[in-house]
Amino acid sequence: MNINTLTLTRPDDWHVHLRDGEMLAAVLPDTARQFARAIVMPNLKPPVRTTDDARAYRTRILAALPAGSVFEPLMTLYLTDQTTSTEIRAAHASGVVYAVKYYPAGATTHSELGLTDLAHAYPVFSVMQELGMPLLIHGEVTDPTVDIFDREAVFIERHLIPLMRDFPALKIVLEHITTQQAVDCVRHAPKNLAATITPHHLLYNRNALFQGGIRPHYYCLPILKRERHRLALLAAATSGNPKFFLGTDSAPHRQHDKQSTCGCAGMYSAHAAMELYAEAFDSVDALPSLEGFASHFGADFYGLPRNTASMTLIREPHTIPADITVGTDKIIPMCAGETIAWKIQG
Ligand code: DOR
Ligand code: ZN
Repeated sequence: MNINTLTLTRPDDWHVHLRDGEMLAAVLPDTARQFARAIVMPNLKPPVRTTDDARAYRTRILAALPAGSVFEPLMTLYLTDQTTSTEIRAAHASGVVYAVKYYPAGATTHSELGLTDLAHAYPVFSVMQELGMPLLIHGEVTDPTVDIFDREAVFIERHLIPLMRDFPALKIVLEHITTQQAVDCVRHAPKNLAATITPHHLLYNRNALFQGGIRPHYYCLPILKRERHRLALLAAATSGNPKFFLGTDSAPHRQHDKQSTCGCAGMYSAHAAMELYAEAFDSVDALPSLEGFASHFGADFYGLPRNTASMTLIREPHTIPADITVGTDKIIPMCAGETIAWKIQG
């Protein structure tokens, strides 16, 4: 069936990097235009480690919203070796912090202060399990002897499975999954394990990194994988299984930080996030499954009400800008200069 218009409940983004300062001002309108709520990543420099940090960051986000926006930032705390159970209880009671993010130290952008050993956070996990507060996991090992393309699969075996065994009722989101192994693990686990999936991992495989030369704007972590993994993600996202839901992992960096001898990881997708997910779902004739993935399953997992407003996507080819200005620099967005088929109406 050829669908040309798709109206769905207004979606939420369950994983986004909004940054701070002039970058926040440049990117926030893109997220707020499409999503009613977003889980905001805490990997600022310095990171969002306490409820007070989260409150202050939330205030800066609200101040940067364009007039008339209806958008609620859902804040997260960055787990370190020093995070205390008392802090977690305060965060939960605050009404502004919705989850805790675990970055293995050194795994990705601004993860230097992440946990050096999961065991350090066992007292914190037991409080989170008691409170029903989700743990959001960047699931990659940092062991330099493990091949970069295997880091997610090895993390699942070495760390996620033991963690689930030790905290069987802990709510966990395995973020931005990239492999068949992650899909299988989430599918077979109890319902307190879910996963987010990005638009870039649905649309690209690792060939995109090397198409005719090295392509820094396709470099993200976890890194793009083989085609068979992309197909497994697409099957999971479009399956209607509520354990898989939308999290863009939109991660803007300045052009000069990406196009460098040591370029940063991250793809910016917030400018066209819903359009890009629509492209991915349409590629396998699964547009009717987009609403559950984008607008229902995440809210259900977090125990939050579903949104009531709606959004309409139309099939109308349009060209993505070549760049987005940030101060004296630029972001090169996903699909820069390319024509895509779907557009948000209005
Ligand atoms: O590609 C990524 N960029 N992956 C992450 O985990 C972090 C993110 C960022 O903050 O730039
Ligand atoms: Zn992220």
